Amino acid sequence: MAVTADELGPALERTLPLLSAEGQGAARASAAGYLDLLGPAGPDSTGPAQDLMVGRIVPTIYERWWRPALGRLAKGVFGPGMADEHRIARLLLGLSPGDGVLDVACGTGNFTREFARTVGAGGLAVGIDVSETMLARAVRDTQAAGLSDVAAYIRGDAVELPLREASFDAVCCFAALHLFADPMRALDRMTAVLTSGGRIALFTSVRGRSAPLRTWEAVMQRRSGMRMFERDEVVAALEQRGFVEIRQRITGFTQFVGGRLAD
Ligand SMILES: C[S@@+](CC[C@H](N)C(=O)[O-])C[C@H]1O[C@@H](n2cnc3c(N)ncnc32)[C@H](O)[C@@H]1O
Repeated sequence: MAVTADELGPALERTLPLLSAEGQGAARASAAGYLDLLGPAGPDSTGPAQDLMVGRIVPTIYERWWRPALGRLAKGVFGPGMADEHRIARLLLGLSPGDGVLDVACGTGNFTREFARTVGAGGLAVGIDVSETMLARAVRDTQAAGLSDVAAYIRGDAVELPLREASFDAVCCFAALHLFADPMRALDRMTAVLTSGGRIALFTSVRGRSAPLRTWEAVMQRRSGMRMFERDEVVAALEQRGFVEIRQRITGFTQFVGGRLAD
């Protein structure tokens, strides 16, 4: 039997009506405190990079060591640090109190919690991820931060994004688009769940210009399962989906891209 609102806390209760009909039918309240839409089956792995995220070790060291260290490698020595990434997300999303924001591939909720603080008690921050271990950590840390009434977590596939159309004012997807089996379909779904005038913020991979670098990237792409996007590919994908005011910042092997869905 599908989950009912009275089994859930206040933020999950407010999240339930935002799920698509299919999502609502599949939703189960997990013991760890998130809504599970996938059950024992998850999406097929896209490679070793994604496999690490569903194990037990990475979530325990993710925010303090893993993300800052790998981020530094990918962004380059002079690229933005984690505090800058949070600032860039704030800038691109332009959140206000009362907004609804979706954090796609939220991991341990490192960005979701900050969004929850910004949108406040009248707003809602929803994190979605496939990893049970990442989500269990996200729920625990969100409770410890006293944000459980504003932030809720769903276990679901970003490529299908089982949420109703036009249900969020802003969508963020940091450090994950390159892990998805079908990133362009995921962008279609992120666009669909945004209200018109809503904002998107992406942080993902980008390919270099030089031939030796591109050869090395092609090898890495095959071995890790992480996709490397061409330099104009993500910007063009947003333009095709009706985004305007698109901004891109490339740093190292990464790019930040933001835009607003035209009214
Ligand atoms: C590197 S973490 C990013 C976490 C956080 N957004 C950040 O910027 O630190 C990538 C996350 O993507 C999630 N992920 C990978 N494929 C996914 C999919 N198809 N649907 C939802 N989440 C996915 C992983 O479980 C992992 O938690």
